[in-house]
Amino acid sequence: MFSSRTDWTLTPNRLAIHLDERRRQGLSILDLTESNPTRCGFDFDQGAILDALREPRSLVYEPEPRGLVPARAAVAGYYAERGAQVDPRQIFLTTSTSEAYSYVFRLLADPGDAILAPCPSYPLFDFLTRLNDVELVHYPLVIPTTNDLPRRHPLPGDQGWQIDLEAIEKTLSESSRRVRAILAVHPNNPTGSFVRPAELDFLLDLCHRHQLALITDEVFGDYGFAEKVFHAASHAGASRALTFTLSGLSKISALPQMKLAWLVANGPPDDLAAALDRLEVIADTYLSVSAPLQHALPRLLELRRHVQPQILARLRQNLAWLDRRLAGEPPVTRLPSEGGWYAILLVPSIKTDEDWAVELLTRDGVMVHPGHFYDFASEGHLVVSLLPTPEIFQAGMQKILARIGREW
Ligand SMILES: Cc1ncc(COP(=O)(O)O)c(C=O)c1O
Repeated sequence: MFSSRTDWTLTPNRLAIHLDERRRQGLSILDLTESNPTRCGFDFDQGAILDALREPRSLVYEPEPRGLVPARAAVAGYYAERGAQVDPRQIFLTTSTSEAYSYVFRLLADPGDAILAPCPSYPLFDFLTRLNDVELVHYPLVIPTTNDLPRRHPLPGDQGWQIDLEAIEKTLSESSRRVRAILAVHPNNPTGSFVRPAELDFLLDLCHRHQLALITDEVFGDYGFAEKVFHAASHAGASRALTFTLSGLSKISALPQMKLAWLVANGPPDDLAAALDRLEVIADTYLSVSAPLQHALPRLLELRRHVQPQILARLRQNLAWLDRRLAGEPPVTRLPSEGGWYAILLVPSIKTDEDWAVELLTRDGVMVHPGHFYDFASEGHLVVSLLPTPEIFQAGMQKILARIGREW
């Protein structure tokens, strides 16, 4: 009766079963996977948020496939601040970045075509590609070490995460499927690595030569840990190849409940014009963003100035505490990261990541994500959110370190 694309294994994993059980028993949980910003104790300007939704113009229906002009102008203004000049005509509003992904996949790929995406990365890519009948092919993000063979595309400052550009080239030349796009996450979840300028250059060249599109997910783009991350500039202004830059209010203004996101198309003039015409038909088929949200967008976007400093302060505080705490704690280290909402702990692989996560939950009441949620290539990775309050974060981390210290 059902499509093969929905033929998922729906049995809950061990961690989910234990989490349910713990909740049923009313036992406390120190949730270090919490990444819902509306539940982490930030001060939201509640009056301004609710006022933004009370716009009388919302009482009139004005169907506009790309979204209402003032809303798109506000998004263009946001990109201007991030160093990218885009015209509101290049912008399409959607209800989520997930919907924006669907538009772009539908625009670019036929059933069975492939999209290259980083690994480890956002677990939803598996579902988004499958639901749109495209094949997800991973390319690795790696932390090169001095032991590695000389790389053909060495990047400056050989530390931290890098895109394995050689692996992408190899896949393009060897894949039996038609590859339609390369997806980059800037900065990536959970590695926190921004795409470096040399990597962007390489990807744009590759896309241009192979007639592919570059899709960049910038939902965490405003959350660099350093005061100034020089390579955090948006890709939305890149026009050497066809590009689609995705973002939205869920992270920028920490308002995931508002369900408002967008894509920005760019590229060589002829490709861009054709893409915009086709996207217009896709968007016109759904007309999915409600009028109150479109009218509220300029003000909700502006509210990022109130919430982002709080979130950045939280991320930096938790990270600084973690680094102080991990100094001299040999079995556990933290992988390098430049931004985003997560930290990756490197833990002894004396047991699987899932075993660590289950044990931490059942014995210590601490919830973490095992690395395999993000498709890490090896065991030894636990992912924690940096959003929880310092009290919860520190209490949870102390228990993690005590448990691992005891068993190591
Ligand atoms: C890389 C990445 N893209 C997109 C999203 C979600 O965005 P939205 O709420 O707009 O669908 C997330 C959420 O965590 C994410 O990690």
